[in-house]
Amino acid sequence: MFFKKKQKHYEPFDLERPLLSFAKNDAWTIRDACEGTQIFGATGSGKTSGSGQAIAKSFLNGGFGGLILTAKKDERETWEKYCREAGCLDALFIISPKSGYKFNFLDYELNRAGDGAGHTENLVSLFFTILEIAEQKSGGSSDPYWERATKQLLRNTIDLLSIAQGRISMMDMYKVITTAPLDYEDVQDTEWAKHSFCYQLIKQAKQKNLSHSKKMDLDFTIRFWLNEFPNLSDRTRSIIVSSFTSMADCFLRGVLRDMFCTETNIFPEFTHEGGIILIDLPIKEYGQLGLFAQVLFKYIWQQAAERREVHKNPRPVFLWVDESQNFITSYDQQFQTTARSSRACTVYLTQNLPNYITALAGGGEARAKVDAFLGNLQTKIFHANGDHKTNTWASDLIAKTWQYRSNVSSGSSNDGKTFFPETTGKQSGISHSEALNYQVLPHKFTQLRKGGYKNNLLVDGIIFQGGRIWNTTGKNYLYTSFKQG
Ligand SMILES: Nc1ncnc2c1ncn2[C@@H]1O[C@H](COP(=O)(O)OP(=O)(O)OP(=O)(O)O)[C@@H](O)[C@H]1O
Ligand SMILES: [Mg+2]
Repeated sequence: MFFKKKQKHYEPFDLERPLLSFAKNDAWTIRDACEGTQIFGATGSGKTSGSGQAIAKSFLNGGFGGLILTAKKDERETWEKYCREAGCLDALFIISPKSGYKFNFLDYELNRAGDGAGHTENLVSLFFTILEIAEQKSGGSSDPYWERATKQLLRNTIDLLSIAQGRISMMDMYKVITTAPLDYEDVQDTEWAKHSFCYQLIKQAKQKNLSHSKKMDLDFTIRFWLNEFPNLSDRTRSIIVSSFTSMADCFLRGVLRDMFCTETNIFPEFTHEGGIILIDLPIKEYGQLGLFAQVLFKYIWQQAAERREVHKNPRPVFLWVDESQNFITSYDQQFQTTARSSRACTVYLTQNLPNYITALAGGGEARAKVDAFLGNLQTKIFHANGDHKTNTWASDLIAKTWQYRSNVSSGSSNDGKTFFPETTGKQSGISHSEALNYQVLPHKFTQLRKGGYKNNLLVDGIIFQGGRIWNTTGKNYLYTSFKQG
């Protein structure tokens, strides 16, 4: 790893400012970081301690703010060490059950600054992102019908609550959905009406003095709850209802309720001022609870990053997601398309390509989503890997070139002693051929050093960056090494 000496004066957040150098004449700048990074490598190949560590430290030394999601238990300690070394331990906010940091996400979404605050569609997208990840993990499909039906359920729940009561809580959403009519008999049953929270809200909303447009919203909402919802097939209804209730259940008790549904003393916007937020609810320890909380916070953080005015505050912010296959959602791709202008530097680390495809429930559509997402992470670093799909994908990405080959042929007699039977009878000489070959063969990725003492703490990587020809090699890829420590 070469750290280039500063030769030129740069403003702290100048996009051309080098963060680190992958080779003597090949700096990696803030601009490059803003275009996103994907690190691939098998377990133990040196993703975290090699390229990950070098990039993480460059962000901290550069004064970036950031959000760190955690899958493994030791990630908190690793980042505490990085921050201590970079002299920014004071800026590290650790969200954990013991730290006392709380974030009431619904309160935040309803009351935050910005024109979109409290809009039904924004809340629908927020809940849908959590439901999407829950569905992925339970092996369900993200089929478009499920998506439409789930969004419709969320939209009508939120609208009913906001029109009738002017406030929304997780508990009330849960109550609306679980007391909605299941068939037409319910709708006509006065006993059901008396005990249904859903019906009581409809009654309350009807008595309100509403604007014309709110009245239209209410008419649609009532039609949904009293006609469409009971008319859904039992199977569809039970799938969408149980996706919601099992997710809501997590937020209605224990750690998630305390941390995400009570008060707020930490904001995603802290990172815009240089704060580094680490959510210490690693999936390995907290399972689904850790996943829901982190995907929720990530989504809200991404939106806050998109909203900020970078011309007033040009400080880059980073999103760090190790074991990223756990956290990927369809919103990531959307976010990544504008991340550069928000100066949001995403770094995703995962073992291999199939991890992402499986996370997005497999199939052709998942593959297309993964390709689109990876296409928007411009810097790709490949460490040692035995996964054939990833290695071939990497070789394809780096592409093939016409390679010129000379063959020396020998033997011209028919004496039967020639070593090359196919040349028998031909004139000896040199022939030239051109073939389209991989610049980096897939098996090369199996031979990279993985760090550790036997490799002098060196981790090899092959770097590709969309549209870049590296000065050192004159090619579109670069071999480099990272020092662990
Ligand atoms: N500071 C260090 N000194 C010596 N060896 C190290 C150091 N840091 C990591 N290693 C070793 O280097 C190898 C690569 O470790 P690392 O954790 O970076 O891999 P990884 O690609 O992140 O793996 P995973 O997918 O499991 O997270 C491992 O064998 C690890 O034990
Ligand atoms: Mg790792």
